[in-house]
Amino acid sequence: MARSFLQDTDFTRDEAEEIFQLAKALKEGRGRANQPKPLEGQTWAMIFHKSSTRTRVSFEVGIHELGGHPMYLDQSKTQMGRGETVADTARVLSRYVHGIVIRTFDHATVEELAREGTVPVVNALTDLLHPCQIYSDLFTLAERWAEPGKPLIDALAGRKLTFVGDCASNMAHSWILGAALFGMPISLTGPEKYRPQPVVDKLLREAGLEPTYTFTTDPKAAAENADVVYTDVWVSMGDEAEKDARLQELAPYQVDGTLMAAARPEAYFMHCLPAHEGEEVAAEVYRSTQSIVYDEAENRLHVQKAILSKLAEA
Ligand code: CP
Ligand code: NVA
Repeated sequence: MARSFLQDTDFTRDEAEEIFQLAKALKEGRGRANQPKPLEGQTWAMIFHKSSTRTRVSFEVGIHELGGHPMYLDQSKTQMGRGETVADTARVLSRYVHGIVIRTFDHATVEELAREGTVPVVNALTDLLHPCQIYSDLFTLAERWAEPGKPLIDALAGRKLTFVGDCASNMAHSWILGAALFGMPISLTGPEKYRPQPVVDKLLREAGLEPTYTFTTDPKAAAENADVVYTDVWVSMGDEAEKDARLQELAPYQVDGTLMAAARPEAYFMHCLPAHEGEEVAAEVYRSTQSIVYDEAENRLHVQKAILSKLAEA
């Protein structure tokens, strides 16, 4: 089993700092000559069992820019889609490629792929977690808050994030892990039915972290003093059958100007995208100067390049 990135806590804080510093250097150096090519001569498989715009494109571009060859594998065109086991897929792909990026439903699938294969595996989103997004988001905040010459991760400690909406989602769970790792207080708010799943407490404890996050059904109370207000779609991939109920139940949790006013005046609005304006976020917030959603999206490229470089050196 090679070094993989399956959940936010798979890197230590020191390693995360290295990743952020490298992401910063790669961002500044992009397009210049003599950029590092740690994936030179390598091929990385990209298995996608769900739709994607940002993740697919940023990984394909990133692997290419690091000197490697990205190989996109559409579920419906592989034997996995016809029932070949995850274990056999892992063993066979490990004979051909140098790493695997996977977006799928069941988190156990990425764990099995990593366990049964011999090459690094990167979690590009499961029903449970989306760690690449969180690292890009944390980097986006550190870029803004860090003092020159000081560690980027130091800028995150003590900054409060409020997650609004579906708090049982992959984004909410990954934020709980990421916030705990970097010492950020996190409050989550949504209907009782959508509170974080107990599995996240188990993941925190396994990583030596305490579950200190709070959950409330009162969005204004949750947003008080927040440095960041974050939301995600109300209907995640795989939840389509529940669409009507979700839109109705989550409606009181739209991030609008009134909710942003409960946060700190300089608070940022963030969203992993894709967004549905008028559902989880009002246009007045989405299009405001507090919104940094496109910087988050851009940083997927730089941060994932840094993560791949780190895994390639292991
Ligand atoms: N944020 C994110 O992962 O976007 P995609 O679903 O487009 O990859
Ligand atoms: N929670 C969303 C995130 C998309 C990037 C989903 O899983 O569809």
